[in-house]
Amino acid sequence: MSTEVTPILELAKRLAREAGRIQREHYEGEFEIHTKSSVIDLVTDVDRACERLIVEAIQRERRGDAILAEEGGGTDDPDADWRWVIDPLDGTTNYAHGYPRFCVSIGIEHRGVATLGVVYDPLLDELFSAVRGRGAMLNDRPLQVSEEARLDHAMFATGFAYDVHRSVEDNLDHFSAFAKTVQAIRRDGSAALNLCYVAAGRFDGFWELKLQPWDVAAGLLIVEEAGGRTSDFSGQQSCASGRETVASNAHLHDAILEILQR
Ligand code: IPD
Ligand code: CA
Ligand code: CA
Repeated sequence: MSTEVTPILELAKRLAREAGRIQREHYEGEFEIHTKSSVIDLVTDVDRACERLIVEAIQRERRGDAILAEEGGGTDDPDADWRWVIDPLDGTTNYAHGYPRFCVSIGIEHRGVATLGVVYDPLLDELFSAVRGRGAMLNDRPLQVSEEARLDHAMFATGFAYDVHRSVEDNLDHFSAFAKTVQAIRRDGSAALNLCYVAAGRFDGFWELKLQPWDVAAGLLIVEEAGGRTSDFSGQQSCASGRETVASNAHLHDAILEILQR
């Protein structure tokens, strides 16, 4: 498997950069905005153009690989060895408002195991990547989570799902519990970038409810390969579904779980 990985990583990086170029070109320009599951759940024609570019290239260059892509452009296949899990534009609400925090996220599984992850921020030209067992990188430098062990010195990130207006499971109780415990919380609208920032030591922890596999497929691996820990709210390791996601520098993980379980 190891000889196979390098060209797949190079392809994922290339496609993330190409989709990022589309995002950069249309940023603060003209594009259509539509709604999906609710009035606050947006999709733009830039999301769709990025997904089309990535999916068509995989179908051309990696025939037989399965694809799970947020806007529905891929074909999933439980029997495929390789599976690409794609968020063509994470941070769509930011993008629609001209707020400069969004990215392309591509996670790749080999026989069900998260094996490669690439997240690209086109405005900062920051490319986060990881290969299972080989560490995580930001452009060409290795990434390491923070050493912070005190909650009141720690900066966290979180987010709210698109059903926040109508669901009682809205994350607001957790938000107030953390607000009264940690040094600072940021809610800046891109879960994939939030996870990469935990990997880079910019955030010390992250939690969110009701994310989707494409939000976390790349970021969780990048956190783990940077020395962090990921789990659901009960501490179980598998949180790839996104339903409950916790990511941390490992030192703070048990303390975070204790707050989430209150
Ligand atoms: C969203 C972002 C946001 C998170 C939402 C996600 P999208 O993804 O990651 O930070 O709070 O839960 O759905 O819609 O911009 O791809
Ligand atoms: Ca997303
Ligand atoms: Ca998206």
